[in-house]
Amino acid sequence: MIPTELRESVPAFDDVRYMNTGASGPTPRSVLEAGQAELESHEWESAGDDGPYPHAFNLYDTVRDSIASFIQTTSEEIALTQSTSDGINRIATAIEWEPGDVIVRTDLEHPAGVLPWERLKQKGCEVRVVPTENGRIHRDDFTDAIQGAKLVCLSAITWNYGTVLPVAELSAEAADAGAFVLVDAVQWPGHLPLDVSSWDAHAVAMASHKWMLGLWGAGFLYIDRAALSRLEPAQIGYRSVAQMSSGGYELHSGAQQFEVGTTSTAPYVALDSAVTLLEDIGLPAIESHILSLAELLTDSIDAERIYSPRDPETGLVTIQVENPDTTIERCKDEYNLVLRTLPEPSDAIRASIHAYNTREDVEILVEALDRIAKWTLSAHSPLIVDYWQGDWVGTSWIRVYTGDKSIRSIRWESFWWTEIESSLTGLGRPGVGDF
Ligand SMILES: Cc1ncc(COP(=O)(O)O)c(C=O)c1O
Repeated sequence: MIPTELRESVPAFDDVRYMNTGASGPTPRSVLEAGQAELESHEWESAGDDGPYPHAFNLYDTVRDSIASFIQTTSEEIALTQSTSDGINRIATAIEWEPGDVIVRTDLEHPAGVLPWERLKQKGCEVRVVPTENGRIHRDDFTDAIQGAKLVCLSAITWNYGTVLPVAELSAEAADAGAFVLVDAVQWPGHLPLDVSSWDAHAVAMASHKWMLGLWGAGFLYIDRAALSRLEPAQIGYRSVAQMSSGGYELHSGAQQFEVGTTSTAPYVALDSAVTLLEDIGLPAIESHILSLAELLTDSIDAERIYSPRDPETGLVTIQVENPDTTIERCKDEYNLVLRTLPEPSDAIRASIHAYNTREDVEILVEALDRIAKWTLSAHSPLIVDYWQGDWVGTSWIRVYTGDKSIRSIRWESFWWTEIESSLTGLGRPGVGDF
């Protein structure tokens, strides 16, 4: 099914070459239809059958089983959540924090892995940030930072560089130092094969709307059974307990104690359907397809412009460009390519390559980046008003808006943008408000 049929099953791709799965993966038709059918089944059909509650409870059990087997753990170690941020928060709020407690994170965490710890500063907690370089963690700094830490939070795949962090090694080291290890792994499932138990982390937060190709709203949280004794869920509801009576209640013995009340069943049914789809294609096949296209991309671009590993570890490839916002806009307008900028590194764009991307997508991206780089001025040069090529012997016309607020038409006898740009240097750039 790779990649043509999968691509054809996503109507969103009719008009675009989508390379932004790291943000959100549009859902294949069969997965979306499973979710849609579930809405009717739950809201209408179950009313005359077992009723919506037994229907939903059976379904949550089925989905916990299916996601557990997909990531190679047991259902007792899975809690169904709404998102990765939700999973991270359920852990952050289940720990008893005291002033002076130390939290360690890398400087590459997504806001989902930053904000809960920022808030804990209000309780007097200290947050130590481990520096990284090009998506690689400084091991000595990590070792120093984790001393005396109560919790360590790190990503499995860095969202801005596409590097794979050595999660098992870092988890083992942090656990030895006495810390609770929480991994943000939302960029992993559906992207690379995953054996979550092999990381020996205490908790791992994930969601279905990126590489899993599921709907928004179905997160899942792995919690190591042995780590449950270190946590006390901040919220409680009828889904958290195995039994309750006037005398009290008993929490579920597994991660399910982190579930609370009604949530739509549709995103979870879609997740189950996505698991089947991805397993039918096969995770090793998906991984090798992604890595071969990522390699084609990194091989086709100047080495110094690739911020991700030259030998790709994932389908996330970050590329240095002169004007990221303009590049993204022009990729979309002129080449139908959907990519994104990043807050850090801020002089780059990120391409995400998944099973539905093709060699042609990558070739078009390479061509687009090449042409856009040639025809985009640097931040200090005049602003281009328009340009056109007069003939095939190398004559170009360009109109620029300069620092003295004039618009000049200039004839250039060169195809080489760098030559044109160097001749423009000194004409100045108009300031904000000059228009
Ligand atoms: C590494 C990482 N963590 C967390 C998130 C947020 O995930 P969610 O929307 O499931 O909370 C994202 C993506 O947006 C991400 O890339």
